[in-house]
Amino acid sequence: MISGLHHYALEVPDLAIADGFLQDFGLETAEKDGALVARCAGRQQEQVRMLESPAKRLHHVSFTLRPGTMDATREALARAATPLIEPPDGADGQGLWIRDPDGTAVQLLDIEQAPARPVAEILTNAGSSRQRIGSAQWRDVTADVMPRRLGHTLLFTPQPARMTNFYTEVLGLHVSDTIHHDLVTFLNAGPGDHHIFGFITSTHPGFHHGSFEVPSIDAIALGADRMRTRGRDAGWGLGRHTIGSNFFHYNPDPWGSWIEWFSDIDQIDECWVAGDWDVPPHLWGAPPPPTFLSNLEPPRT
Ligand SMILES: [Fe+2]
Repeated sequence: MISGLHHYALEVPDLAIADGFLQDFGLETAEKDGALVARCAGRQQEQVRMLESPAKRLHHVSFTLRPGTMDATREALARAATPLIEPPDGADGQGLWIRDPDGTAVQLLDIEQAPARPVAEILTNAGSSRQRIGSAQWRDVTADVMPRRLGHTLLFTPQPARMTNFYTEVLGLHVSDTIHHDLVTFLNAGPGDHHIFGFITSTHPGFHHGSFEVPSIDAIALGADRMRTRGRDAGWGLGRHTIGSNFFHYNPDPWGSWIEWFSDIDQIDECWVAGDWDVPPHLWGAPPPPTFLSNLEPPRT
């Protein structure tokens, strides 16, 4: 079933503003069939697609399927009485298209994830490690700070239990952990990143954030500096998350949602046991801004 997140797509009022924002964040952008698409340099996979429309809203999310599971996916969708739909306007027509219980269009692609852009091993002199001998980190660490892959996205939902059941029982994801029962739900696609997808409970559906892996904690902080230098809002971070444990920095996007750089996310295995945790989102660092969980998308009609 689902093997990973392929890309996410938003409707936004102005593609030129989106283009500048995504470039400042560190993605490569291009025009494609009237849409703005963004990739990580060195990775052959579309990661973000922006479509021009009067109001910002989530347009679709796209996932890859494990090789050989297309038939099982079709059967699971039929058992769940989830019909296939035509691709929504502005999307490409590959794979299967469905709507999840919130009505969000979902693309299921019978392809493998493109390899993440290769990065160098990060050598540390922390703890008992003495790996970095005879080189000056401050001169080397600036060489590679750009995103290498899209890691995860979180959506707002008014029905977290129903959405979680759909994505786990029909599409094969697994619950990694939850915060405050179902205030936040993190989902994984098997061994690998602690979460590739998840939900934040809200009054109505919406897009919360997309998150990109960068090579190091320094790359996160240097990216935040770059955004500040270019006049972007400061955002939230640097910090280390509780659930997932990744270092993070978020910038607000021009439409009231967020984009994140991460590094050092927990890797789970087949033996991982999900827990329900009563914790803030950050282990250390400043608390999130009051607007962090605001869902500014217009409710769907
Ligand atoms: Fe995140």
